[in-house]
Amino acid sequence: MCGIVGCILKDDEDVAPILLDCISKLEYRGYDSIGIATFHDNHINVKKDKGKIEEVDNKLDLADMPGNFGIAHVRWATHGDPSKLNSHPQLDEDNTVAVVHNGIIENYLEIKEKLTLEGHVFKSDTDTEVIPHLIQKFIKEKFDLEHAVRKTIDVIEGAYAIAAISLNEPDKIVATRKDSPLIVGIGDGGYYLASDSPAILKYARDIIYPERGEIVILDKEGVVVHDEFDNVVNKDIETINWTPEMAEKEGYDHFMIKEINEQASAVRNTLTQKENIQNIIDDLEGIERICFVACGTSYHASLTGKYLIESLAGIPTDVVLASEFKYSANTLNDKTLVIFISQSGETADSLKALDVANQTSKTLGIVNVAGSSITRRAQYVIQTQAGPEIGVAATKTYLSQLTAIYLFAALISNNAELLKELDNVPDFIDESLENVDLIEDLSRRYNFARDFFYLGRGYSYPTALEGALKLKEITYIHGEGYAAGELKHGPLALIDEGIPVVVIIPPGDNYRKTMSNLEEVKSRGANVLAIGAANDESLKAKADDVIPINENVKEIIAPLIYIVPLQLIAYYITLEKGHDPDKPKNLAKCVTVE
Ligand code: F6R
Repeated sequence: MCGIVGCILKDDEDVAPILLDCISKLEYRGYDSIGIATFHDNHINVKKDKGKIEEVDNKLDLADMPGNFGIAHVRWATHGDPSKLNSHPQLDEDNTVAVVHNGIIENYLEIKEKLTLEGHVFKSDTDTEVIPHLIQKFIKEKFDLEHAVRKTIDVIEGAYAIAAISLNEPDKIVATRKDSPLIVGIGDGGYYLASDSPAILKYARDIIYPERGEIVILDKEGVVVHDEFDNVVNKDIETINWTPEMAEKEGYDHFMIKEINEQASAVRNTLTQKENIQNIIDDLEGIERICFVACGTSYHASLTGKYLIESLAGIPTDVVLASEFKYSANTLNDKTLVIFISQSGETADSLKALDVANQTSKTLGIVNVAGSSITRRAQYVIQTQAGPEIGVAATKTYLSQLTAIYLFAALISNNAELLKELDNVPDFIDESLENVDLIEDLSRRYNFARDFFYLGRGYSYPTALEGALKLKEITYIHGEGYAAGELKHGPLALIDEGIPVVVIIPPGDNYRKTMSNLEEVKSRGANVLAIGAANDESLKAKADDVIPINENVKEIIAPLIYIVPLQLIAYYITLEKGHDPDKPKNLAKCVTVE
């Protein structure tokens, strides 16, 4: 998704190197173009083009721009191809207003038509370009920049975080948001805007979170926030406890492998949320039904939650994809707890569903990013403690989401045994990472496959889905996760000689039935790669390859450990194929459009 940054420095230093540094930290969001605008000597300088930041920087020398304030953008194309013209900043035709935008302007075509009739000439295919044109039009009607932005947001519909600069008002950046993320940083040397905190951690950790419709004005003296009636809003300043180093690779080749290696501590840190979770449970009286809402990997964590809560607490639990949630809204009431699971806390589909759920039900967000929109709109919040996750593929945040869900399920069902079991999980995770040499070897053998199947039963079924998703998103190999017992109802027809089938088969109640499914695929020629207990000799005899996991890992906690080799398989196959695991094509870390 697009990322925006803005900065105004207190002294007369050039801001471009800082803007470039900050916007580079948003590469992880997924992008195809980069651009910067600075203000200097009554002129807006713009450098922008399609391509990776490094390529465009080599061509245009992005840090070499005069001016002590400006805005920057990484674009993830929605309207119009990736190209220089469609890159942001977008400007009005006289180059008097520059704007960066994250989100989608839904009514841009009708605005464009109207402005064209008024004589405006548009150069790009973007929805964004209407914004600088509208701001310029209102400035010509004698509004100052703040009020021109205010008038503009009365006209545009959709989701946006916007930052604008204007020739008419030197030394000022005006920003606003609706349904797209935007934070404001207060640093020693200046004031900052960003789509996400990793962009500015190095410069500012005191953060203001603007609400929808608030207008933020940054100048050399400080930050002022106005509500829709022009009143000054006294915003709380919250200090982020993430450090700049946490958002660096720290010697690892990729963020993804760093984050996989940080999973034991992500789980350990999230286990500290036990008291907070108990307090929330104590407050939730009369809950008769739970409904999880999430997307992607967070959806898979939610599915594990259904298995846990229904089997341990006997509370009927549904799991709904956030983008499909509105069709379930009629079933909600005040005895329903709707739990939103999200790494970013900014996923547009989940936010829309949260607004619906808040009208009838109790809502709880389980979120990794502090201060994000879900944490501000849900009635209860559990903060997972994974630290910043930069790799696009969710890994350590998945395990920290699972940890919070396990704590919730264990506490709501008073299951002391499970609580105790959870304390062993970090060591089991670290031990599972010792399989890395074996997995590298398997990845060399399996990377030519075109299709993979992942099978699991019960608690291991969501793990199969998540393993397949990791494979698809970073290796671009087709992977399907199935409930092992479902395969014979259709997909078995796809099993051919040599097709890799990953079977998740921890010891426990589902073991024997899963073993029968393993034999079904084996007898049809599949190449079985099993993840099972280290002391399981019969598994070793039946599968082609086995990745061993400590035999003391019980089936109920297996999702927290058995996923680790599946993440590693996806990572090493990606390296074999020569792709960048941190930035898979077409994907974005934070999906702020519906
Ligand atoms: C996959 C992945 C995505 C996200 C999904 C939801 O590795 O990262 O599937 O899980 O886009 O995002 P959040 O959790 O931020 O709501």
